[in-house]
Amino acid sequence: MGITMEFQWYPGHMSKAKRIMQEDIKLIDLIIELVDARIPLSSRNPDIDDLGRNKARLILLNKSDLSDDKYNAQWAAYFEEKGFYVLKVDSKRGSGLRLISGIVQEACKGKLERDKRRGIQNRPIRAMVVGIPNVGKSTFINSYAKKAAAKTGNKPGVTKGKQWIKLNKNLELLDTPGILWPKFEDQTVGMRLACIGSIKDELNNMEELSIELIKYIVWHYSGRLQERYEVDEELEPYRVLEEVALNRHCILKGNQLDTKKAARLFIDDFRSGKLGKITLEFPANRD
Ligand code: G4P
Repeated sequence: MGITMEFQWYPGHMSKAKRIMQEDIKLIDLIIELVDARIPLSSRNPDIDDLGRNKARLILLNKSDLSDDKYNAQWAAYFEEKGFYVLKVDSKRGSGLRLISGIVQEACKGKLERDKRRGIQNRPIRAMVVGIPNVGKSTFINSYAKKAAAKTGNKPGVTKGKQWIKLNKNLELLDTPGILWPKFEDQTVGMRLACIGSIKDELNNMEELSIELIKYIVWHYSGRLQERYEVDEELEPYRVLEEVALNRHCILKGNQLDTKKAARLFIDDFRSGKLGKITLEFPANRD
């Protein structure tokens, strides 16, 4: 997937966010890290492994309503093998969230036992949510807080200094998530992030991006494009895009095909799950 894209960097913002996160991490027992289930590695920044040393770790494969179930299971096994607790969730609809509380207790078992030995009882576990922009942090905090509060009858509470959301008597969540910056290892990673909408579309060449995505889907999910746009998947990728334009009446004055519009429409269809559940990276061969 050779595609040239220009990325903008904001080193000032990045180092400030990192500083705040370092301070926040001192206050917590557990890091809840959200990744996008369609690109679980490309949507994470491994710096968090350093920042979060000695903390219990839970990875949420978020947006799992949009990713391929078969690979969700493989990614869960991949992260479990690396010592993380893992859960697939759909924060938008709330599925998977009711399992979190039990997993958190399990992940923090060691700490709770240490507390007990020292005579500390009933100190709630404190957690924070981290992840790259657009991965669903706010959606998660909102729907999880709502679910937990409804269940326990608690209202989100405020303690001195930082704001904590009391999820139940055993768990408090820092109300502001930590923002991690995506790590552009290479252009493939950049392309995956662009596909899921984590890089501003204005910075991408949407036609080039759609061509890469067409190639990928035809290769790994054959039949999907034929089904939605009645295109011949054997054609050259650019011809496929032209057929999408025809099928969706993306026509310019003078009867020219509007492939720019078709590209945007196609990528929007992918992002909203209209092309079915699709995973863009696989765990095999990754270390
Ligand atoms: P952030 O705080 O990490 O930056 O992300 P945020 O919660 O703002 O979520 C970014 C987008 O992802 C939102 O869509 C949100 O609805 C969507 N989203 C979050 N979690 C899930 C999920 O599990 N499944 C799906 N399908 N979508 C999810 P948006 O287009 O910005 O808003 P909206 O149109 O959904 O209101």
